[in-house]
Amino acid sequence: MKNLTIDPERLWDDLMQTAKFGATPKGGICRLTLTDTDREVRDWFKARAQALGCAVTVDDMGCMFARREGQRNDVPPIAMGSHLDTQPTGGKFDGTLGVHAALEALATLHRAGYETFAPIEVVNWTNEEGSRFTPALIASGVFAGVFTRDWACAREDRDGETFGGALEKIGYRGPERCGDHRLSAFFEVHIEQGPNLEADGKDIGVVTGVQAMRWYEVTVTGQDSHAGTTPMPRRHDALVGAARLVETVDAIARKAGTAVGTVGLLEVKPGSPNVIPGEIYFTIDLRDPDAAMLDRLEAEIQAAAKRVESELGLAIAIKNIWMQGATQFDAGCIAAVRAAAKVSGYSTRDMISGAGHDAAYVSRVAPASMIFVPCKDGISHNEAESSSKEQCAAGAQVLLQAVLDYDRQLAERYGK
Ligand code: GLV
Ligand code: MN
Ligand code: MN
Repeated sequence: MKNLTIDPERLWDDLMQTAKFGATPKGGICRLTLTDTDREVRDWFKARAQALGCAVTVDDMGCMFARREGQRNDVPPIAMGSHLDTQPTGGKFDGTLGVHAALEALATLHRAGYETFAPIEVVNWTNEEGSRFTPALIASGVFAGVFTRDWACAREDRDGETFGGALEKIGYRGPERCGDHRLSAFFEVHIEQGPNLEADGKDIGVVTGVQAMRWYEVTVTGQDSHAGTTPMPRRHDALVGAARLVETVDAIARKAGTAVGTVGLLEVKPGSPNVIPGEIYFTIDLRDPDAAMLDRLEAEIQAAAKRVESELGLAIAIKNIWMQGATQFDAGCIAAVRAAAKVSGYSTRDMISGAGHDAAYVSRVAPASMIFVPCKDGISHNEAESSSKEQCAAGAQVLLQAVLDYDRQLAERYGK
């Protein structure tokens, strides 16, 4: 077989080119899902894929599939990809690297005129981040049958716009039913978003699974009241109640050791310097490799909420809006990644992902796994997020090799 090598410069140029859609002054990207900037990058993706001879289809959750035909087009495609949406202060690599690495792998096949056995596809999943419409991974969740389409389309952003409405507005509600698109396998390249690869001096993370995660929406209701005239004993300050729970989330996750707990969004009503806050909305993100730990943490938060309610005369409602169990990736896909890194001359370590990824939901309906590359100081969900040209190229090269390995296995399986 020809030795196929991806082009690091081309990959880097593409990353930097699309970083302009939603570029922030601090060098990051703000490209919230289903906004005009998301539409712009989607249009770019479509044009680029078509220039590589691909047909691009879109499903009714806005997921995009760029397809390069193989020898046997009745065989479901081997897919690779990630997401093009970002956090409000996102970096240039979270998600985009996975899509661009996939496009570069496909471009390498195209330019070499290499004919694969199975069709090869590049996927852009909608709303991976979950920062505009909660929860994260909405479209891959519908794809895997975890969420219903109606529930997903009715999700509202903080201004009351629905996911379905926003999808319609940017013109990316496609005709294909999300979930009907069968895959032979799915591979996703991503920056690690944590410090482990860099600390260990390893080039590639062979990702064996994703930790369990849960999201909650909390509403604390007290009483709006005058800041100057309401004596301290007569107050029902919702923000003080929320502050005690924020402290609890941090403390119980620290105590648990393996877990992480975050309050990332908090809204104060009515939001005036001289009004005691009467209502607070905030979110909780809890993660641990073991879902049983999350049961225990949730029980501790519920107990703390009861105490705070009675101490401050508040009403606290905690709603679990997302629950994802721990994911174990497919042994065959993991082996393909490990072999691909070895043949490409890269050092590896196995790891569980701390971050959520579309590959986790996809793995419920198709064999899947992931390839991690280091990022500087382990920083992500931050405009300063950074990986080098060489690190990005290593991810794309391992992706290409893993897909080719899997393609050979498929050819054998189908008795070619
Ligand atoms: C995805 O960005 C996550 O929250 O892990
Ligand atoms: Mn991501
Ligand atoms: Mn992210």
